[in-house]
Amino acid sequence: MRKPCILFALALFSIAHSPLAQVNIIPQPVEVKMPKIAGQFTITKNTPIVLDGSGLENSANFLNEYLQQVYGFTLKVSTKNAPGAIHLNYEKMEYALPGAYVMQVKKDQVYIAGDNEAGTFYGVQSLLQLLPVEKVAALKVPFVNIKDYPRFQYRGLMLDVGRHFFPVSFVKRYLDYIAMHKMNYFHWHLTEDQGWRIEIKKYPRLTEVGGYRNGTIIGRYPGKGNDNTRYGGFYTQEEVKEIVAYAAKRYITVIPEIEMPGHASAALTAFPNLGCTGGPYKVQETWGVFNDVFCAGNDSVFNFLQDVLDEVIPLFPAQYVHVGGDECPKESWKHCPKCQRRIKDLGLKDEHELQSYFIQRMEKYINGKGKTLIGWDEILEGGLAPKAVVMSWRGEKGGIEAAQQNHDVIMTPGSHVYLDHSQTKNEDSVTIGGYTTVQKVYSYEPIPKELNEEQAKHVLGAQGNVWTEYMKYPSKVEYMIFPRASALSEVLWSPKAQRNWPDFEKRLQQQFKRYDLWGTNYSKAYFDLKASITPAKDNNGVVLTLQTAAAAGEINYIPGKFSSAFPAYTAPIEVKHDIDINAILFVDGKQTSSLWQSFIITKATGKHVTIATPTADNRAGNGGTFGLVNGAKSDKGINSDEWLGWQGPDMEAVIDLGKAQSVSSVNVHILDQQPSWVYPPQHVEVFASADGSTYLSLGKTSEVVKEDNNMASITIPFNTTNARFIKVVAKNHGIISEGKPGSGSKAWLFVDEIGVN
Ligand code: ACM
Ligand code: ZN
Repeated sequence: MRKPCILFALALFSIAHSPLAQVNIIPQPVEVKMPKIAGQFTITKNTPIVLDGSGLENSANFLNEYLQQVYGFTLKVSTKNAPGAIHLNYEKMEYALPGAYVMQVKKDQVYIAGDNEAGTFYGVQSLLQLLPVEKVAALKVPFVNIKDYPRFQYRGLMLDVGRHFFPVSFVKRYLDYIAMHKMNYFHWHLTEDQGWRIEIKKYPRLTEVGGYRNGTIIGRYPGKGNDNTRYGGFYTQEEVKEIVAYAAKRYITVIPEIEMPGHASAALTAFPNLGCTGGPYKVQETWGVFNDVFCAGNDSVFNFLQDVLDEVIPLFPAQYVHVGGDECPKESWKHCPKCQRRIKDLGLKDEHELQSYFIQRMEKYINGKGKTLIGWDEILEGGLAPKAVVMSWRGEKGGIEAAQQNHDVIMTPGSHVYLDHSQTKNEDSVTIGGYTTVQKVYSYEPIPKELNEEQAKHVLGAQGNVWTEYMKYPSKVEYMIFPRASALSEVLWSPKAQRNWPDFEKRLQQQFKRYDLWGTNYSKAYFDLKASITPAKDNNGVVLTLQTAAAAGEINYIPGKFSSAFPAYTAPIEVKHDIDINAILFVDGKQTSSLWQSFIITKATGKHVTIATPTADNRAGNGGTFGLVNGAKSDKGINSDEWLGWQGPDMEAVIDLGKAQSVSSVNVHILDQQPSWVYPPQHVEVFASADGSTYLSLGKTSEVVKEDNNMASITIPFNTTNARFIKVVAKNHGIISEGKPGSGSKAWLFVDEIGVN
């Protein structure tokens, strides 16, 4: 039988901003002052840009390109003074870092002056954010005085072009996004197991062979098959030069990353002699970490990598060269006579010291070229290369250790700035997983508490990492980075004391409109409708409350009727029968988020429930233990927050039905996703009790019925019994066996609902 279904509508309206509130700049400037007498300067196609100094053409050009793309006109640029102009200039300022600027918007002019070219450029970025978010011909800009300067010297975004390849046109757009957020580093991840993406003239096979793979897995790793479609591409050196020059005009430094000794499958496919086994190797078609790494015992490998760097380094004016160093399995080295010989000859302790030798040898070469090596935090293992800069990704630990050893560090912890993580619990595209909201990114503090003032100076800044396993097209990259990259820009630019989430939220509403203006894709997860499910007062059924974070800031709930089919949501909904509820959120009249909540009501729903062993902290369910009897199952597999999870322990739950009643079966809804270490229980046993202390076993089963999205159901039927307390024990799978992902670790047990009938 189909369940009944009701539809609800929620409406939010942005409050119209007063002229005073029109300054919505991200990242928030250090000082914004509105003059006592408010007013507006109007930019039209007749407004001149006056350059009051040399070297300001980049700023004028960017302004004109933006005006052309967004509003369809450009301004005349001149070095002669003219009335009613936008003046670009310089001023001396005494801040710790370069890039400061002042801006005044007055009746008769806009004045922007930086302490260097970049400073003026950043002032222009602020001006662009004072323009209307509608495509109009007369651009009214509010009178304002701004004084601004950056907090960190390294404000970066990375892009992985190995897993998926992006055209030059998109890389340029990415650079525009970086520039418009006053960020100044682009970390270009150019080589991977799945593709070598930069032309090396001495070794054309690197891109001819290593630039292409014969297929790609379909769906989330380990995937549902392979598309068997050749995929690849690479950047010619001419294209690299074009991109580096494009970046330079935006005051962005491009850091190339050439991965070693791991993530080398594509290079080894082209040159099998550089691996420990001699191959054959293949350009990888799936994701993960591979044992095919550069041999550390073979001098030809070092000669080869030096040749590669000989061509790469002259293309990039950056002080830094990134050599990766992450995720290098030591398996091949353990079995390789050349690697073992090297360990013996040099008196190294183990393969970790061999990796350290590898990086240190490359560092000498890179230093010899006047450049500084950057590596992921694994380069700490076995001893840090003397002058290396560490990029801390496995949390902050590596960054803290490196700073304590007086090395410069760039913070990129997975927990806060991996922009490949999901930013919603309702993700309907495939992502690598995780859950990192825009608010979490905004909360990131790059200086760890563990560092003293001197050590903290080694934290150059932070960077958002964009790994593209699950980003095949530019629109997906945009969807993943926005609005989180906007939040990160404020973390990196604005003073710590000024960090203010509600204020950011207010400005974010305008930023969403700006993305629309740019034609940029972005995630609307910020508006997500969330369901909170609580027991009904009499423990008979549940109450559904709908919420959205977007209620904060200058947005109000305005209940109202939108169509006869969608009554307005005005109060929490009582649920006593099986039902599907579909709610839609309207923001400014536009459908912005929706939520589908299905309820199956059993004798257990809404009742009191306890568990003997607590869940893991990060898998505590939606609404805690009550989630086991809230009538709501996950409808989308592992990403749902309905799951309660135990890593190792059994689940032992006791449900108090309130009074003795006739029961004849129990159903347990679980997740069976073994590649993610989540296993079905060995068996489930059900017990009954009249008093809550003496229990009798009613039945036990290990039979699992599979459902979609790796979910499954376990039903334990038994002879009809009268009982008040039902105890359900699900026996954890135990240790994961050899050869499986997570082998040797404790398996997870995930349960989201227990039904009693
Ligand atoms: C990394 O995410 N493997 C640096
Ligand atoms: Zn070897």
